[in-house]
Amino acid sequence: MCRVCGGPVRQFFDFGRQPLSDAFVDPDRVDEEYFYRLAVGICESCGMTQLLDEVARDRMFHEAYPYHSSGSVHMRRHFEQTAGRLSRDHLRGPDPFVVEIGCNDGVMLRSLAKEGIRHLGVEPSGGVAELARQQGVRVRTEFFEEASAAEILAAEGPADLVYSANTICHIPYLESVFRGLDTLLAPDGAFVFEDPYLGDILERTSFDQIYDEHFYFFTVGSVRSAAARFGFEVVDVERLPVHGGELRYTLKRAGRGSPGPAVAALLAEEDGRGLGTPEVFDAFAAGVERVRSELTGLLKELRADGKRVVGYGATAKSATVTNFCGIGPELIDWVCDVTPAKHGKLMPGSHIPVRPTESLAEPYPDYVLLFAWNHAEEIMAKERLFRESGGRWIAYVPEVRIL
Ligand code: SAH
Ligand code: TMP
Ligand code: ZN
Repeated sequence: MCRVCGGPVRQFFDFGRQPLSDAFVDPDRVDEEYFYRLAVGICESCGMTQLLDEVARDRMFHEAYPYHSSGSVHMRRHFEQTAGRLSRDHLRGPDPFVVEIGCNDGVMLRSLAKEGIRHLGVEPSGGVAELARQQGVRVRTEFFEEASAAEILAAEGPADLVYSANTICHIPYLESVFRGLDTLLAPDGAFVFEDPYLGDILERTSFDQIYDEHFYFFTVGSVRSAAARFGFEVVDVERLPVHGGELRYTLKRAGRGSPGPAVAALLAEEDGRGLGTPEVFDAFAAGVERVRSELTGLLKELRADGKRVVGYGATAKSATVTNFCGIGPELIDWVCDVTPAKHGKLMPGSHIPVRPTESLAEPYPDYVLLFAWNHAEEIMAKERLFRESGGRWIAYVPEVRIL
């Protein structure tokens, strides 16, 4: 049943039993892993693409949530630019107030905090919320929903802007979020959020965007219809190149703004592509199977030739790839990552060990599988010497190839 409208959801892919994508395993506690079924479908009534099974939110977002948004220089720059844009477009009045849903380690809000703008982050994961505070950001450690929004309104007054990046798609209880927005936003306030775009996921066969935390896969069409259900309207939309292709949506209360030309243009494009039709999902499913067979084939071949292969980026996305393709330590020796909290742990489900990125050169392997493909430019520039010493990168988005 659709989590937005209660309509029937037509499944288009089942990845089977999967571990939580950010639950890195302590080598002494491999027996305690939690698994769920990862299947995805589209609502036949409202067109919202979503997971069929929901993982309880406290299992995913808690004190030890390991994802740090500031781990990428490129993303730090993206959010600095975003802060500038938001303050120019939405925070120009006297004493404006902005709330960010899922501020993580403060990667965006710290820029607004530095400018002295009244702000509040809402972030349930205590560890990253503390990192944000160390950056001078004010944070409430809790989930954004109807009840917390009412408390924020009572304590701080109405918000001129609510912003959120890579978080709204993590929240199954959208109705409660929209009620919260309706409570908290000033009459002409704006809600701006950005998330991975289903159009890009289908086009690039980036099936690794599908994992426990990514509950929804938005399009302009599906966001417009969900917004309308809760009294809001999409007034602007913008494509973003980050994280493999995203859309940034600007919403206002219905009747408080008029949709700009970009909205109609992208809706027409989605219609033209048949986004949401069974044919498009069938093609995606065939693409996923092709990537699985080519990637496992290549890794087995390299292993048979005695090559050393490691992975780069212990991403949440890689949990879907390794577990769905059956890639374990017998094919990938280890995966390196900059995040200290992941070091010494095992990748969820596959149990491939995670090491610091400094390990890469000790000595360089023959091949590196790029799990953090959305940060390819930054990583390949940083690890230039690997390539120069004769090493080769392996990519699997949009197709399996050696770079
Ligand atoms: N905005 C950051 C973080 C994205 S990770 C970025 O773009 O990089 C998603 C974050 O959403 C996590 O830090 C998680 O703890 C948080 N989150 C999950 N559910 C939430 C909710 N209901 N309200 C606020 N934050 C939430
Ligand atoms: P993400 O794709 O969800 O942003 O996750 C990226 C992961 O890759 C995260 O664990 C940090 C890691 N990473 C590196 O190890 N080195 C890097 O240069 C970058 C940009 C990310
Ligand atoms: Zn629906």
